[in-house]
Amino acid sequence: MKMFRTKILGTGSFVPDKVLTNDDIAKRVETNHQWIVERTGIHTRRISDPAKDELPSGMAAKAAIRALEMANLTPNDIDLILFSVTIPDMFFPNTASVLQEKLGMTNNCACLDVNAACSGWIYAYPMADALIKTGVYKHIMMVGCEMTSGFNNWDDRNTCILFGDGCGVTIMGRASEGEDAQVYSTVLSSDSTKKDHLMLAAGGAAKPIREEVLKNNEQWVTMNGQEVFKAAVKTMASHCDKLLQESGITLDQVKWFIPHQANLRIIEATANRLNFPMEKVAINVDKYANTSSASIPIALDDFVRDGKIQRGDIVLMAAFGAGLTSGAVLIKY
Ligand code: UT7
Repeated sequence: MKMFRTKILGTGSFVPDKVLTNDDIAKRVETNHQWIVERTGIHTRRISDPAKDELPSGMAAKAAIRALEMANLTPNDIDLILFSVTIPDMFFPNTASVLQEKLGMTNNCACLDVNAACSGWIYAYPMADALIKTGVYKHIMMVGCEMTSGFNNWDDRNTCILFGDGCGVTIMGRASEGEDAQVYSTVLSSDSTKKDHLMLAAGGAAKPIREEVLKNNEQWVTMNGQEVFKAAVKTMASHCDKLLQESGITLDQVKWFIPHQANLRIIEATANRLNFPMEKVAINVDKYANTSSASIPIALDDFVRDGKIQRGDIVLMAAFGAGLTSGAVLIKY
C-alpha cells in the first residue's frame, strides 16, 4: 500500500470583533484586572454575536475560507470535515454538516463532530493523519471552534474570567515527493477519575433543561480549577516527553511549543517542567483567553501568518480539557 506524509496545507482563523475586558467583567462580579492578570495572564477575550452568524458553524466558515485560500483549494476539494466543538450549533445535525452547507459544498463529503473538550482539535489530529497517510482521504478540514460564551456563567467569578470565543482551521493533505513535512508522533489520553472537575452537567439526556435546572442555575460550566491546573501541567509535560523520546527529537530541535491556552501559569509551569524556554512558546491567552479547542489552531495560524513558523520547523503541540482529556502532537511543518 502506498503511504503518504501528512502536511498542513493551509491555516486560517477567526475571532469575533467584540472585545470583553477584565474591567468589563469586574462590573458584574467581584474581581479585578490585576487579580485576573496575575492568576491567568488574561487581559481580554472575544465574544461572538449570533446575530452576525458567529455561531460555531459561522465562525468556522470564515476561518475555513482563509485556510482554503492558503492551501489553494476550493471547498469541494475537501473529503472530510473533522469539527472539534464543545457547544455545537445544535445537537444534530452535527456542526460539520452545517459548515458544509455554509461553505456551499456540493460534494457530499463526510462530516463529523469531535468532542474532547479543549483537547478536541488535538484529538482530531492523529485521526486525520491516519486517514491521509493511508490514502483514504486526500484533503481533510480540521476545525477547532468554540462559542464558550454559550456555557459561561457570567455570575461565577471562578470561571467567567477564563473563556473566550474563536476558531482555527487547518487543511490537512499529502506532502509531495521530496517534501519532509510529517507527523512524527501523537498521543491521546483521558482520565475519567477526574471527569467531575470540569463539566457542563445539564442540557444532555442525563439532565435535560427543565425549570428545575434553570432554577438551580445548572446550565453552566462548573470547575474545580486547582485540580484541573495540576492535572494539566503533569499530563501535558509527560505527553510531550513521551513524543520527544519516541521520535528521537531533542528539545533544541523544537522551534515552537504551542500549548493549549488556558492560563499563562499552566503554560509556564509546563514549559518549566519540560525545561523549554518561554521565548519558544506560543502565547495568545492574553488576547483571546481560553478558546478551548480553538486555542492551538488559532495560535498556529497567527504564527504561520506572522512568518514565525516556517516550512521545515518542528512544532510541538499539547492540550488538555474536560474528561480530563489530553493529547500531544509532534510535527514537522
Ligand atoms: O481548558 C481547561 C479549563 N480550565 C482551566 O484551565 C482552569 C485551571 N485552573 C486555573 O486556571 C486556576 O485554578 C484559576 C485561575 C481558575 C484560579 O486560580 P487559583 O490560583 O487556583 O485560585 P483559587 O481558586 O485558589 O482562588 C484563590 C482565591 C479564593 O479566595 P479565598 O478562598 O482564598 O478567599 C477565590 O475565591 O481567589 C478567589 N477568586 C477570585 N478573586 C478575584 C476566585 N476567582 C476570583 C476572581 N477574582 N475572578
